[in-house]
Formats: sequence, C-alpha cells, structure tokens
Amino acid sequence: DLELHPPKNPWSHNGMISSFDHASLRRGYEVYKQVCAACHSMRFIAYRNLVGVTHTEEEAKAEAAEILVTDGPDEEGHMFQRPGKLSDYFPNPYANEQAARSANNGAYPPDLSFMTLARHGGEDYLFSLLTGYCDPPAGVVIREGQYYNPYFPGGAISMAQALYNELIEYEDGTPASASQMAKDVSTFLKWCAQPEHDDRKQMFIKAMGILSILLGLTLYLKRHQWSSLK
Ligand code: HEM
Repeated sequence: DLELHPPKNPWSHNGMISSFDHASLRRGYEVYKQVCAACHSMRFIAYRNLVGVTHTEEEAKAEAAEILVTDGPDEEGHMFQRPGKLSDYFPNPYANEQAARSANNGAYPPDLSFMTLARHGGEDYLFSLLTGYCDPPAGVVIREGQYYNPYFPGGAISMAQALYNELIEYEDGTPASASQMAKDVSTFLKWCAQPEHDDRKQMFIKAMGILSILLGLTLYLKRHQWSSLK
C-alpha cells in the first residue's frame, strides 16, 4: 500500500475551549492568495468574511479592490469590469472546468472552501499533503505530469509541490518555511470550512458557566427540600 495516514498535530485551535490563532489565519490567507489561488478557487468565501477575523474592514476592502470583477449589464446593456468590493467572493483562476483541466494536465484543482471537511483527516491531512512530497519508493513509476505524495490516495497526485522554504515573505516577519506556510494555510482553510468555530466554542464556555450555576442551585435546593426528612 502506497498511502500513509497523516499524523495528528497539536493544533492550537483543537482544545475544547481554544479559539483559532488569528495571526496564523492571517498568514494563511497570505499563502492562499500568493500560492494556492493561482490554481484553486474558493467559491464560498467573500472578502467581507475576512473582516474581524484576519483583516480590518479597511484592509479587507483593499484586498477586494485588487481583483477585477465582471459586472453588468450597465444602462447600455454592456458587461464591464470593476475593482472588487467586500461583497465579492474570492476569484476563480480559470474561466471554467475545461480551462482548469487543460492548464493542469487534465486534473481538476478542487475548490478549497470546504477542504478540511471534504477530506478525511482535515487539517492534518492538508498539512501532511503539502509537506509530504518525496521521491517515489523503488519500483513505483509516476506518470508524466504526476508527482509522488504518500499522503494522497494512490500516491500519484497531479499537483506539484507548491510550498518551498522562503517562497513568500510574511507581512509579520515570521520566517516562511515550507512547514510554517503549510501550517498557516491549513489553519486558514479550516476556518474557511468552519467559520463559526470560535463562536461555537465561546457559546460552549457560556453554556458551561450557566449550567454549573444551575447545577449548584439545584443541588442546594434539593438538600434544602429534603432536609426535614433526615
Ligand atoms: C489538488 C491544496 C496549490 C493544482 C489539491 C487538493 C488540495 C490542494 C487539498 C486536493 C487533494 C485531494 O484530492 O485529496 C492546495 C493548497 C495549495 C495548492 C493548500 C497552496 C498552498 C496548488 C497550485 C496548483 C495546484 C499552485 C497548480 C499549479 C492542483 C491540482 C489538484 C490539486 C491540479 C488535483 C490533483 C489530483 O487530483 O491529482 N490541492 N493546492 N494546487 N491542486 Fe492544489
């Protein structure tokens, strides 16, 4: 069998009451934008979703304004291009699936919006996939346009290794090693798939607080009620 099971990593967001590491999310967006977005779409994330998570409103507006969006028709019935707005979704690098396949040796780079939910192993799988490229074991032949990655089912993947040390420069000065970028972009993709993660955990903390007060009150009342029968 050519497939390895991804090891579990100690993600800082995986504690029962831990939130995402938002500095890591912001770096992960940088990796997504500068590396992955060349081939992958992210249809379900809009620039407005970044506000208060990875960027301020002003910064998210500036990110959106970097893309060109086809809009229209205008009063004369023409389509036109305009800079992106907060309400726009992340751009698709290809016009359609056919264009995507012909640019990638026939393989289709899947939309990354829900990737940590769509693949068994979630962010652990993503991290291992992105850092797991290596030479194939003796006797394994990889076809032209494919690459060996023991974490990809079957071992032969049509995506080349995307992350190399120092490939990008992080705004916050964090050294951009391949594994740092893999960690950050995997965290970012986890947020994309589960943006409600932090709210859910905060709700859990509140619920436990209220429930423990109610439990204490209930126990006290019960003892009080039955005390005459002792
Ligand atoms: C597939 C992530 C960059 C082209 C995939 C898959 C993931 C992924 C999760 C699905 C693997 C699976 O099916 O289990 C990423 C991330 C990137 C990145 C996080 C940035 C760090 C790129 C780039 C290209 C690319 C730059 C093009 C040059 C592809 C293709 C596939 C693919 C063609 C389909 C592979 C196959 O089905 O054999 N990528 N990718 N990816 N990616 Fe990427």
